[in-house]
Amino acid sequence: MQDYIIAPSILSADLARLGAEAEAVLGAGADFIHVDVMDNHYVPNLTFGPVIVKALRDYGITATIDTHLMVKPVDALIPEFARAGSSYITFHPEASEHIDRTLQLIRDQGCKAGLVFNPATPLDYLKHTIEKIDMVLLMSVNPGFGGQSFIHSALAKLREARAFIDASGCDVRLEIDGGIKVDNIAEVAAAGADTFVAGSAIFGSNDYAATIAAMRQQLAT
Ligand code: DX5
Ligand code: ZN
Repeated sequence: MQDYIIAPSILSADLARLGAEAEAVLGAGADFIHVDVMDNHYVPNLTFGPVIVKALRDYGITATIDTHLMVKPVDALIPEFARAGSSYITFHPEASEHIDRTLQLIRDQGCKAGLVFNPATPLDYLKHTIEKIDMVLLMSVNPGFGGQSFIHSALAKLREARAFIDASGCDVRLEIDGGIKVDNIAEVAAAGADTFVAGSAIFGSNDYAATIAAMRQQLAT
């Protein structure tokens, strides 16, 4: 049985009630909390700093916090997010001058490291980094906003990433982010994803538990 992870993105949560929202999705069956960090420079939107991760930890959230950095430059923020309580820290290779150094920095801070690929970014960056990676995150939308439509070319790219990861023999999660819903989660799982970010599909629904259960049911078919 495949170990599937569902990671709601708090970007679509009611941010005035963030702690309660995180607790609610975890109570409803989610595994990770996905935190989208946007800097109005690498992406055209502005969201969360390390204080938000710290606030979630102080509130009592003990689940894995999956921190997706859409920032440039990256390195100075890594110790800050690690100290705040991030579990995974992922970044976009275009946003780092020295990708290997940034990956090492994340692990040196005691976190799991990952690279994020935009829809048009080739997977070549994996070739010399796979042994320093715990997560490959494929974007199925252009980063910056929740609620966008799934870009179909991500399916072929998932298959390519899955084949590369399996051939490497490394223990690496394959995460998909953007436009994931109950009605396409089975298709992205079949293409090789094992970790699913969903923002609007979960937080935009009336019943988080029913939505997550419907996703898991799709994954079981
Ligand atoms: C986009 C973010 C996503 C986003 C997903 O830049 O990385 O995590 O919140 O939102 P949905 O699931 O609504 O596409
Ligand atoms: Zn994200």
